[in-house]
Amino acid sequence: MSGISIKSAEEIEKMKEAGRILSIVHDELEKFIQPGISTWDIDQKGYDLIKSFGCEPSFLNYNGYPASICISIDDEIVHGIPNKKHILHEGNIVSLDAGVIYKGYHSDAARTHAVGTVSEEAQRLMDVTKQSFFEGIKFAKAGNYLYDISAAIQKYVEANGFSVVRDLVGHGIGKNLHEEPEVPNYKIRGKGVKLVPGMTLAIEPMVNAGSYEVWWLEDDWTVVTQDGSLSAHYENTVLITEDEPVILSL
Ligand code: MF3
Ligand code: CO
Repeated sequence: MSGISIKSAEEIEKMKEAGRILSIVHDELEKFIQPGISTWDIDQKGYDLIKSFGCEPSFLNYNGYPASICISIDDEIVHGIPNKKHILHEGNIVSLDAGVIYKGYHSDAARTHAVGTVSEEAQRLMDVTKQSFFEGIKFAKAGNYLYDISAAIQKYVEANGFSVVRDLVGHGIGKNLHEEPEVPNYKIRGKGVKLVPGMTLAIEPMVNAGSYEVWWLEDDWTVVTQDGSLSAHYENTVLITEDEPVILSL
């Protein structure tokens, strides 16, 4: 048997609240995205916001991660570490990835924003990444198989001329930030597990404008594109039901 946790009605209520709060945190943080702000300052605002809702930032101290928000600029794919010297400039794209813990339950979501006016390619990359999530969750319902979601994401991204990162994947979520199953954004062998009502998944396409290959930086966290191309990230915590999926963090 798999170790995938199926959430009870009570657990789902807590996860809904964790997701609702996280969506507000993201909406509030978006207002600070402008040229001149440092990623350090965005992280501070994120920490304060999460605390103001009586929640804990899931990422802070997770495996030693030193901040509340992962902030990744341009060719940084994910897990950029907030830094006073990392200043947003007009034309950048910036991904904010955040998680909150509410009454012991996690939510996890990421958004990519434009800093001022960005190139046509950057805008298209952000749009395709976000839409790939919605293409994927068309298959996120009971009776389908996990990799139906993966395949749909990959198909949409590649049809638009971009590539899907392989070395990082989405995941189950609940009492823990990372639970089974892994949720790849590309098709792998087999079908994956059958989707069952009460499963909660963090579905998170990471999409590169160039090739899908990545490098880890010396800080052991920041993941960048090998070819220096732009990358975007879009993620929500999703509840599987008999019917349409419920996006908890939107
Ligand atoms: N959102 C990321 C994920 O889904 C979590 C970041 S790892 C952390 O895996 F260490 F920053 F928490
Ligand atoms: Co995640």
